[in-house]
Amino acid sequence: NVMAARGQDLAGRHVVVSAGGTREFLDPVRYLGNRSSGRQGFALAEAAIARGARVTVVAANVTLPRPAGAHVVDVVSTQELRDQMHLAASDADAVVMAAAPADFRPAEFVDAKIKKAPDGVAPQIHLVENPDILVELVAARTSKRPVIVGFAAETGDATASVIEHARAKLARKGCDLLVVNDVSAGKVFGQDDNEAVLLGADGSVTEFAHGPKSALAHQIWDAVVHRLD
Ligand code: CTP
Ligand code: CA
Repeated sequence: NVMAARGQDLAGRHVVVSAGGTREFLDPVRYLGNRSSGRQGFALAEAAIARGARVTVVAANVTLPRPAGAHVVDVVSTQELRDQMHLAASDADAVVMAAAPADFRPAEFVDAKIKKAPDGVAPQIHLVENPDILVELVAARTSKRPVIVGFAAETGDATASVIEHARAKLARKGCDLLVVNDVSAGKVFGQDDNEAVLLGADGSVTEFAHGPKSALAHQIWDAVVHRLD
């Protein structure tokens, strides 16, 4: 039994999990968004609660039932997610960035609904880059706490394999652990199952078996607990 084996190994810990996908509004009715459902983030929250943690979830546009016992803070945009993550992370023992923040946002928000031009010319949308929350959380840390975990959905390409891309991303972000999903087959979004590889900043590589997101969540916390001791 999974619960018996792990017990209350997160008791007395505050863990913060981001979940879902951010939206960047163009006008009052339209936004740029992504397909992240929040399932993995909520599974992480539920697993941490089962292991005794105090859990804060910063949820970006998640429509799933709330994880019982978690403190849920709702946000919409990447900038709101960033502000709430910094607030919650300040006294956290571990932070997991399972959310998918939009990398870019429209340079301006138009107060009134954008109309089609009579001449049929398509509007140009100018984008500016959003802050990298994970990089900021790592930079804001003054000790080895909190343990910081990132996620990466990668595809292999002509320049590098999934793992090579992920190793480079882990180094860029500076976090302790990176959960890597191979999305080449395009089957992760919105699914109950997930398979992943966990890369450690110490060079470790842990392959997780294909299984439900709850099982993956527990394996991620196992690695976090190992680094908290
Ligand atoms: N992330 C973040 N802030 C952003 C973008 C991403 O904190 N503005 C976090 C995600 O929550 C995830 C990790 O960084 O934990 C990796 O996200 P990913 O989109 O794979 O990384 P990017 O640096 O945006 O790279 P890419 O160009 O591949 O999208
Ligand atoms: Ca991105």
